[in-house]
Amino acid sequence: MYKVIEEGKAKLKVPKESKISKELPVFYNPVMEFNRTSSVLLLKSIENNKMILGLPLGGSGVRAARFLKELPKSKIKELWINDINKEAVKIIKNNLKLNKVKAHVVNNDANMFILESKGFDYIDIDPFGSPNVFLDSAVKRLGRDGILAVTATDTGCLAGSFVNACKRKYWAVPQKNETMHENGLRILIRKVQLIGADHDKALTPIYSYFKDHYYRIFFRCKKGKKKVDKIIKKHGMFNDAGPLWLGQLWDKKVAARVAKLGNDKFLDIINRESKIPAVGFYNIPKLVKRYRLNFLKQDEIIKRIRKKGYKAEITHFAPNSLRSNIEEEKLIKMMKS
Ligand SMILES: C[S@@+](CC[C@H](N)C(=O)[O-])C[C@H]1O[C@@H](n2cnc3c(N)ncnc32)[C@H](O)[C@@H]1O
Repeated sequence: MYKVIEEGKAKLKVPKESKISKELPVFYNPVMEFNRTSSVLLLKSIENNKMILGLPLGGSGVRAARFLKELPKSKIKELWINDINKEAVKIIKNNLKLNKVKAHVVNNDANMFILESKGFDYIDIDPFGSPNVFLDSAVKRLGRDGILAVTATDTGCLAGSFVNACKRKYWAVPQKNETMHENGLRILIRKVQLIGADHDKALTPIYSYFKDHYYRIFFRCKKGKKKVDKIIKKHGMFNDAGPLWLGQLWDKKVAARVAKLGNDKFLDIINRESKIPAVGFYNIPKLVKRYRLNFLKQDEIIKRIRKKGYKAEITHFAPNSLRSNIEEEKLIKMMKS
């Protein structure tokens, strides 16, 4: 049974069931509204126009409907949406009609859909769990200056709950500690970049985040062996986790535009964070416990760090935590004094 809801500027027919699971006749998860909103904002924030958009794992068609309703006309040349589930394809067609928008709808396996296409300027890999099995085909068909959007919901594996699974699937060692989600995101970035390297495509994250139960990354694709070599030079260990991506998680300009357009607290935190080129962050309660320090409020610590001439902002990755370019030793000394 279905009901009609609204998300962003789209109207959608979605399953009535309140329990969200893979077993739904057609998959629609309201919790992922922010994931879709961030995609709209990202596409609005970059300079690419007349894009051919590919949504290989289409679900209910909500993302497609929102792109077509919310993005300026100049952005989209064609939109292709696919799902392996016949019922999903029926609902996608229905939802496109409901919103009076048009797209090419395909019922195929995602990899076949991507490989049989003429290529895309934007591919959105939004799977159940790991994106791994769709990465190779997506990278192959991603055009010059194209954007690869990747969601991963297997955060347990990437953040250290299943070490062997992470080694097998992401070729890296995770750590279950205070920075586990930043490490997990960076491990995933490196994995995607290594698939890119197979095809001489350099994939640089321009926007990424951790939220609820998932990681989300938008990569910009450039072609060339030398560019790939530069990416790989930024792979390494962080404490005992990795190898992982040690480069930037955000393009500062993109983060600023997304925050301005989005007008949302979470996006604003990321925008501020994007200005600090540091890997990892400090978790205040952990530092206090480890070094037997007096507890100071986060705001007070940030104020003191800035007074010393360093940068400091709260991080979106964890509560009571801050990103700063101050060395740990100096921070401890400062908190002791
Ligand atoms: C997480 S949902 C996608 C949600 C959708 N992108 C959204 O924003 O609401 C994953 C979708 O992938 C589809 N799917 C799973 N395996 C697939 C495959 N191998 N090829 C194509 N579609 C597949 C499922 O039927 C499901 O609709």
